[in-house]
Amino acid sequence: MNGFRAHGLAGSMALAESGVIIPEKKQFRGQILLVDDERDFTALARDILSSRGWDVLCAHSGFEALQLASLQSFDAVLLDLRMPLLDGHGVLDRLRRLDPTVPVIIITGAGDTPTAVECMRQGAFDYFEKPVDWNKLHLALENACRLRALEEQVRDLRKALRERYGFDNLIGQSKKMREVFEAIQRVCETDVTVLLEGESGTGKELVARAIHYNSPRRTKPFVAVNCAAIPETLLESELFGHERGSFTGAVGRRIGRFEQADGGTLFLDEIGEMSPATQVKILRVLQERRFERLGGNRPVEVDVRIISATNKNLLEEVRKGNFREDLYYRICVYPIHLPPLRERKEDIPALVANFIERFNRRMPPHRRIRAVASETLECLMRYPWPGNVRELENVIERSMLHATDGVLRPVHLPATIRSPDLAEMPSATSWRDALRTATEVPRWEEVEQELLKLALRLTKYNVTAAASRLGMGRTTLYRKIQRYGIALRPRDREAGAS
Ligand SMILES: Nc1ncnc2c1ncn2[C@@H]1O[C@H](COP(=O)(O)OP(=O)(O)OP(=O)(O)O)[C@@H](O)[C@H]1O
Ligand SMILES: [Mg+2]
Repeated sequence: MNGFRAHGLAGSMALAESGVIIPEKKQFRGQILLVDDERDFTALARDILSSRGWDVLCAHSGFEALQLASLQSFDAVLLDLRMPLLDGHGVLDRLRRLDPTVPVIIITGAGDTPTAVECMRQGAFDYFEKPVDWNKLHLALENACRLRALEEQVRDLRKALRERYGFDNLIGQSKKMREVFEAIQRVCETDVTVLLEGESGTGKELVARAIHYNSPRRTKPFVAVNCAAIPETLLESELFGHERGSFTGAVGRRIGRFEQADGGTLFLDEIGEMSPATQVKILRVLQERRFERLGGNRPVEVDVRIISATNKNLLEEVRKGNFREDLYYRICVYPIHLPPLRERKEDIPALVANFIERFNRRMPPHRRIRAVASETLECLMRYPWPGNVRELENVIERSMLHATDGVLRPVHLPATIRSPDLAEMPSATSWRDALRTATEVPRWEEVEQELLKLALRLTKYNVTAAASRLGMGRTTLYRKIQRYGIALRPRDREAGAS
């Protein structure tokens, strides 16, 4: 396809360069294969369509058409029905097997309409009778190309989603995460109802999507409902939809989330936050697999796979009487527990590498991170990560903005991550502010000395730890300690001070 396109463009450029003809700027609309054994017709059609921006290649028999179509791809095919040996029907059938996405428009002689309609059933995009209305044909070609481009976009998006939510993006080599992967593998081919339990930020939604995109339902919708975020009064309409005029403000018919997810997966997030009234309604749908839209009396049947998630201990909620026991057993057919990050710290390096790679793609080349200092990793491994993987992801994204030479160092991390007690250490900006407002501007050496002393005091004079907090190498710190004559024996200092 590119070869032909390039050829056409190169041709018009040559003319322009020769100075003989300044070609009219024509918008390139697409490349068409025109199949007709009548040479007068193909010549006329080519002239008219190319004057409107189409690049037309002609084939004068069915066989020639198939040969061309197997060599390159076209944006659309215009196909005559009556041809000797291999007629339009046969060509259409083989074309669709070669590339089911290419739109085919049938051109027929008068009286061939029933056959053309038959071709539409076979998957043709449209049909035109001769003599052709060129304006309408031009519009049909435009529509066909637009539709095809949209279909391609949808395919690409689906592929990107599969890649984003496939197993490959669930990072973790720890024993606990391997168990999670095994559990996902066990359930993804089935329709079993899954309950994902885990603290906030442990990856519940990511796992729900991974199950969906690795299940036979992957081409159908994944619909997420945050049970905690929908106000009680709207929940029924949100989940089950409503008929027009069913309540004040219901101006049109609305399809609820259950119906949107038909054939796919419904993800009920934060299910522990559902009110008792909603719990009853959900239980009913899960039992009967059908419901009525608000204000409607026709039952709607749906085929959805349910995955729920909670960061609460749901069994505990059952014991406390906050969650219905019968609903608990409906949704908890297969529970998967997502371990907090602090219980699988060995996953941190791989997660960090993955996030850096992802965020690097959004950065200009000179801002990309090429390495992570081992001290940085030590800080990340020490921190307890109460916000789990989400917190780690945010910290990496933020820290990457501070790095300037392609290496992620401890100084780039938030103070609380470098060391929880370092929060009391003044940040670089507050030092700068202090310098700016000071009446007697201290010299940099004085400021640096103070910083080194503070870091040493906070680390109980452990030089390695202090260097890591300051984001400098151990040897550099030693050199500076010597230069400033900072005492390294705290007991002596304390004794001296008191
Ligand atoms: N194993 C993992 N590998 C890679 N990224 C992960 C992993 N687990 C979580 N993440 C990332 O961490 C972020 C939080 O994950 P997710 O939204 O799935 O958590 P959650 O358990 O649903 O949290 P919450 O309970 O707060 O809704 C997401 O951006 C996700 O991509
Ligand atoms: Mg979530």
